[in-house]
Amino acid sequence: MQMVIGGWVSKTISEITQLHVPDLVKKHGPSTALELVERHGVRAHAPSLQRALRACASLGLFTEDAESRYGPTPLSDALTADSPVSIKAITEIFGRSWYTVWGGLGDALRSGEPQPKSRLGAEYWDFLRSNPKEMEEFGAAMKANSNGSLRGVLELWDFTGVKTVADVGGGFGHLALALLAKYPELRATVLDMPDLEPIVRAQLPSDPGVTARFTYQGGEMFADVPAAEVYVMKHIIHDWDDERCVALLQHCVRRMQGDGRVLCVDAVLPPAGDTSGTAAKLLDINMLVFIPGKERTLAEWTDPYRAAGLRVGHVLPIRDNFGTSIVEGVRA
Ligand SMILES: C[S@@+](CC[C@H](N)C(=O)[O-])C[C@H]1O[C@@H](n2cnc3c(N)ncnc32)[C@H](O)[C@@H]1O
Repeated sequence: MQMVIGGWVSKTISEITQLHVPDLVKKHGPSTALELVERHGVRAHAPSLQRALRACASLGLFTEDAESRYGPTPLSDALTADSPVSIKAITEIFGRSWYTVWGGLGDALRSGEPQPKSRLGAEYWDFLRSNPKEMEEFGAAMKANSNGSLRGVLELWDFTGVKTVADVGGGFGHLALALLAKYPELRATVLDMPDLEPIVRAQLPSDPGVTARFTYQGGEMFADVPAAEVYVMKHIIHDWDDERCVALLQHCVRRMQGDGRVLCVDAVLPPAGDTSGTAAKLLDINMLVFIPGKERTLAEWTDPYRAAGLRVGHVLPIRDNFGTSIVEGVRA
């Protein structure tokens, strides 16, 4: 039953996070639902909020005393905006448009078709393009989810000596900017949708030593990619079917300078018969319901790489939320 009611848990945590309760109890200390509403401006019906907080405390998210005061814990801290491991933005989106799309999972299983068109009125990337607020929230969610995988790339891949990197579908540029901060000789270009550019510009770090080496290129990644020695595509390949992936990888191979590399950062599922990798397998269901993408086993990575003129080199597992690895592509 705990698994069956997992959807209740996810939705309740999302709603509490959208009301900024974790931030408020971190700032003001243990509070009752009434105090949160009357003193700290939470827009909720206090008795109902109290019931949700009681359930969350039972899950270990908050402390609870005999006066029904709810206080912060290390778990609620991860749901606050200023935590170094914040997953606030992705938790919020789980309970909003993503929850709506997941309502179509049964239809996706029956038809094999992504559900944003029937649930949100458009295919997912088009839905984001025509809803700037959603696009910003999605970008923030991806950035939040990147905390772990970003650290893993910085720790596991040595960019010493590399002059240029292109982060294709690099979102807000969080990975590229972290690489630039670590490697002073590196220049980085992020290619992503043109509509993201103003948000990326508004969030650039103040260090001119970093920003001077950063380029944002708004464009269509299936049309072309910028020239670079190393291509990074983090959580991109899992968004697309094999045909699109081969096209994208071919662009990278064609534009790759010198003895370059393509570094895809995505899950590598264990082979059939190995029941580990639960988080990545659930992420695969997320792909199923949203877009024509999927998570891949090593064998399923090999085929698109080969078709694009690459071979799979090192596969380096990153310890993040979704069992992600760096899958190195070397010119064949
Ligand atoms: C799953 S997100 C990954 C973002 C980022 N790489 C990360 O790991 O946080 C996919 C990204 O691909 C971008 N994208 C989708 N379709 C695109 C296209 N046709 N051309 C350029 N970027 C695209 C989205 O805007 C989004 O930022």
